[in-house]
Amino acid sequence: MEIVSKSDQDAVSVKSYNEYSNHNMRRPVVKPEIVSFMREEQAVLPGFLGELEAFAHEENVPIIPHETVVYFQFLLAALQPKHILEVGTAIGFSALLMAQTVPDAKVTTIERNPEMAELARQNFQKYDQENQIDLLEGDANDVLATLTGAYDFAFMDSAKSKYIVFLPHILKQLSVGGVVIIDDVFQGGDVAKPIEEVKRNQRGIYRGLHKLFAATLKNPGLTATLVPLGDGILMIRKDAEYVELS
Ligand SMILES: C[S@@+](CC[C@H](N)C(=O)[O-])C[C@H]1O[C@@H](n2cnc3c(N)ncnc32)[C@H](O)[C@@H]1O
Repeated sequence: MEIVSKSDQDAVSVKSYNEYSNHNMRRPVVKPEIVSFMREEQAVLPGFLGELEAFAHEENVPIIPHETVVYFQFLLAALQPKHILEVGTAIGFSALLMAQTVPDAKVTTIERNPEMAELARQNFQKYDQENQIDLLEGDANDVLATLTGAYDFAFMDSAKSKYIVFLPHILKQLSVGGVVIIDDVFQGGDVAKPIEEVKRNQRGIYRGLHKLFAATLKNPGLTATLVPLGDGILMIRKDAEYVELS
């Protein structure tokens, strides 16, 4: 894979995000010194992935944090999925990470923001040399219903209030034994508070996340676990062909 020069990435600036976007990504739910330790002591990303990661940080594009990057590399190397589905591409960083980690896998990724989709397309043209990645531009609300593939790994990293809406579609497309990872489920710690203590404009997300927890954490058709990485991830394994979500 080609290595992009730093100046290529610097020439692009992102309009969709600024330093005030995605404030929960700046409210880590574990001790700040542990977060820094995980980010600084674990292996850095070489080559174009490291450059895309730096570019996203400079331009405030919300990509998975470095501790989740390292966890994904471990998990995907162990699971070796063949068909990966992602909701929320942004600039294509996590899609390229997954494709590079599992060279035999195909990645289908969905993005609705035209600016992000265009940057992702450019990055896939440059770095997805084996044509592993298929970008579907549109709202996952519409796109998920059109998919027919059987996936064995799915990553949801989009609007948090919609996770519970998208999950039934994803589970339908997932083979038994398949794994879903859902990012940013702790809302900077707000999910553990009574709703009255959560800002009014964050309560829709809070309700959506609580519906997601109620539907999954104790569901007999799933194995589910919450992991305090970044702003929290929910990991789900589909254990039965038909899973009823309450
Ligand atoms: C956190 S970013 C994704 C970051 C990416 N997964 C990474 O780590 O490199 C979330 C992206 O999801 C997109 N998104 C949010 N809701 C969506 C929806 N309903 N359908 C498609 N994309 C959506 C946003 O436009 C944004 O680019």
